[in-house]
Amino acid sequence: MKKILVATEKPFAKAAIDQIRPIVEAAGYEFALLEKYTETAQLLDAVKDANALIVRSDLVTREVLEAAPELKIVVRAGAGYDNLDLAACTEKGVVAMNTPGQNANAVGELVLGMMVFMARNGYNGTAGTELRGKKLGIHAYGNVGHYVAEIAKGFGMELYAFDPFVAKEKIEAAGLKAVDSVEELYSTCDYVSLHIPATEQTKKSINYDLLNKMPKGGTLVNTARKEVIHEEELVKLMADRPDFTYISDIAPDCKADIEAKFESRFFFTPKKMGAQTAEANVNAGVAAAKQIIGFFENGDETFKVNK
Ligand code: 3PG
Repeated sequence: MKKILVATEKPFAKAAIDQIRPIVEAAGYEFALLEKYTETAQLLDAVKDANALIVRSDLVTREVLEAAPELKIVVRAGAGYDNLDLAACTEKGVVAMNTPGQNANAVGELVLGMMVFMARNGYNGTAGTELRGKKLGIHAYGNVGHYVAEIAKGFGMELYAFDPFVAKEKIEAAGLKAVDSVEELYSTCDYVSLHIPATEQTKKSINYDLLNKMPKGGTLVNTARKEVIHEEELVKLMADRPDFTYISDIAPDCKADIEAKFESRFFFTPKKMGAQTAEANVNAGVAAAKQIIGFFENGDETFKVNK
């Protein structure tokens, strides 16, 4: 009997496991669960007889793949797959997939939620500002960008997007203005919400020059990856621009520095929680389980992300 292992350092909601387990078992597979592990050794031990693996942001390194000789498929239950060593997956004949879109609404809601929280000074009782009429720039119009835009419309925000991989017509059909360059997006918008993946091209790409183009009172919202920010330049920018605010679902490596220097101009969630809803966990976890079953039963490789 093939074994499907769910290995999540940050566990899914119980509601998700309660749906994933019966889907796996009804299809004739063994279900195994490793949650809240604290040592890589626990993951290495758990994968040793797994035929399929479902993870979240858990690192699937060459070492993990080498400890899993029976592994045929790994599914990142989520969007960003920068935690998977794709080259090692390919070398070992392991198919790697993600579950695009399944947790996107949850991230979108967090973006607007954090924006309101900061615009109202952390609900400290003082006069804040409103989102209505402000310009929101969506940096990469994928699944999350789409939900951010739809929710922001309800707030009466003016919407802009930059995405060289999405046709301008598609962006404009959704009621956003598609701008021609990343520089134009940042110089136009009061808020910019980041939705780019962490790749060799994008890492450290959000730098001083780009952020400095933002209008007075500019706010950057990062629910993407901390690696895309040039952190040293962000700290310099925040020092030079006392009007600038940084909101992030991923505490930066320079968190202590920012906390020490820029009181009340930042907000960081204690743990990445954009996708931390029962609904997103159910959607992504169930999709991952079904993709694995489809792969084993029918050779379905939709959503494969390695070559
Ligand atoms: C994603 O890429 O899907 C999100 O960053 C969610 O990550 P998580 O599953 O670790 O919460």
